[in-house]
Amino acid sequence: MFDKALTLIKKSKNILVFTGAGISTSSGILDFRSENGLYSLLSKNTDLPYPEAIFDIKYFKKNPKPFFSLAKNMLEQHAKPTNCHKLLAELEKNNQISLVLTQNIDMLHQAAGSKKVLECHGSFMSAHCLDCHSAYNLNDYKQRVLDDSIPYCNCGGIIKPDITFFGESLPSAFYDLVNNPPETDLVLILGSSLNVQPAAGFALEMAMKVPSILVNLAATPYDNAISLVYHEDLEVFAEYILRDNLIT
Ligand code: OAD
Repeated sequence: MFDKALTLIKKSKNILVFTGAGISTSSGILDFRSENGLYSLLSKNTDLPYPEAIFDIKYFKKNPKPFFSLAKNMLEQHAKPTNCHKLLAELEKNNQISLVLTQNIDMLHQAAGSKKVLECHGSFMSAHCLDCHSAYNLNDYKQRVLDDSIPYCNCGGIIKPDITFFGESLPSAFYDLVNNPPETDLVLILGSSLNVQPAAGFALEMAMKVPSILVNLAATPYDNAISLVYHEDLEVFAEYILRDNLIT
């Protein structure tokens, strides 16, 4: 089924991978926009004016509780990398990856062994006080989140994980990448609805310059800009590519 994709992947030396929440659903983490995704679940949460408010900086400053309750769930989940995360780590070992650009905040690419990872929406690993901007790392605030309390800085400001919220800029590393993209001979887009800018726009711009593959259960508005489109499960895709034993 994925023969053409396999041929392209095998001959590529500088693959730019763009991943979204769909690469982690098999590990039990919800995606955002699927029928049973996080935003659908949150639409039943009466604390929130609308589901995306959970990641809205203005709303967070007024009421950080819904975000920290989600953060607690994620930190308690101890999700494991999927076969698709492992496939990308294998391709990197085989020197075929120029970069994994991920929108995900779950740190599963690193857990699978990928090193060339740019988290364009940040992660839980670091955090800052919203008022005095003091820097913290996950271990400094994790226990307070697990204990259901809001982590506050000594100055009284909220400690916010360095996750990009709606209304905030992406990390500067993302803009460095846009200004200086790596050599790329294949773009692999995995598990994203391509709805959120500017990350999706960059992936699509790169995809239009070289051969590209998209694997995503649902259709995206940009399928026709991609060379090979598969509306399939990423675990089936990963198993197929890994079965070829292309890593020798
Ligand atoms: P979305 O939820 O918008 O899209 C995930 C896509 O993955 C959907 O189109 C699903 O069909 C697909 N999918 C789910 N499971 C899959 C599987 N096993 N195999 C193949 N495809 C699968 O998530 P993103 O595009 O990542 O931002 O969302 C982008 C950003 O929106 C997120 O980074 C987040 C959110 O608001 C922030 O948190 C700042």
